[in-house]
Amino acid sequence: MLPPITLLAIESSCDETAAAVITDGNILSNVVSSQIVHHSYGGVVPELASRAHEKAIVTVVEQALHQAQIQKHQLNGIAFTQGPGLMGSLLVGTCFAKALALSLNIPLVAVNHMEAHIYAHLIDPPTPKYPFLCLTVSGGHTQIVKVSNFGRLEIIGQTLDDAVGEAFDKCAKILGLPYPGGPVLDKLAQHGNPHAYPLPIPEISDLDFSFSGFKTAVLYFVQNQQKNQPDFVEKNLNDICASIQYTLIEILMRKLKKAVKQTQITQVAIAGGVAANSELRKRMHQMQTQGHWQVFIPKFEYCTDNAAMVAITGYHKLLHHQTAPFNVTPNPRLTLTEPTH
Ligand code: KG4
Ligand code: ZN
Repeated sequence: MLPPITLLAIESSCDETAAAVITDGNILSNVVSSQIVHHSYGGVVPELASRAHEKAIVTVVEQALHQAQIQKHQLNGIAFTQGPGLMGSLLVGTCFAKALALSLNIPLVAVNHMEAHIYAHLIDPPTPKYPFLCLTVSGGHTQIVKVSNFGRLEIIGQTLDDAVGEAFDKCAKILGLPYPGGPVLDKLAQHGNPHAYPLPIPEISDLDFSFSGFKTAVLYFVQNQQKNQPDFVEKNLNDICASIQYTLIEILMRKLKKAVKQTQITQVAIAGGVAANSELRKRMHQMQTQGHWQVFIPKFEYCTDNAAMVAITGYHKLLHHQTAPFNVTPNPRLTLTEPTH
């Protein structure tokens, strides 16, 4: 029998410092420390994020190893997020990973953050078979990806401007909700009427998306209503949130249905922070129960940023002998189809 392959994975692309341990494809620990320092600024402040990563990374890694009951000398590799993300934040994770791998004399595995969101589906069964489609929706990305095999990905649709997570956050800000707005808006929407206020659906060709006009439409709608009723937002908050959420998810679902029609691929997954959204999860479930698609919805902890997704991607890359050289540098603008390192 082959000895087990154990990896430590580090994720530090934005405002979560995370570490996970994986042995032979099984996640043994998954520790996430979310930075609260940004909340009072209404968004992520890059300089503060890198300092917070520096402060948290040793403790987070130690916790992940401790929870997994793994000693450093048992590790066979270190996986880390090379990009995309914030340069300073990525640098902290990359330098830490390099130093640890060098001191233990084990390989480094560079992981693409967006690829990791998709491969989070390989963690627990049922796992999709190739080929499958993945709607990858986060704070910085909105993509429909055709996944033909491990490492064979093709973006068949994407946003031309804002990401859908950004649209959630900006609409929440217009309503005076705290950062990060997506989850707060989702919670309030569950008590509101999704059809209270019809909002525009942008007409974008093919499988692409646009969300910047939607955010402006919401701003003008709210300002117009406030002219006649200054406390319009306070009085109707749940209905406004439900209407915004319904429309944003409707935009995603229409494109996803079009993608299935075009590709004839009916295994459909969702990934990234917005995959935690209750309306999106409900609509995906409906497609499954109506017998249209076989859908794959990640556990909540694998939707928003985490290191378990980096661990599973790193594990498969190591099996494919895809290691990184020690002079590897972070790439804040790494695209999905670009090779890592
Ligand atoms: O994947 P993620 O954790 O970080 C990035 O890689 O960007 O995604 C963060 C995004 C934020 O825009 C956040 O508001 C959104 O995901 N988000 C949600 C929900 N949970 C997180 N948006 C809508 N509903 C949610 N429940
Ligand atoms: Zn992410």
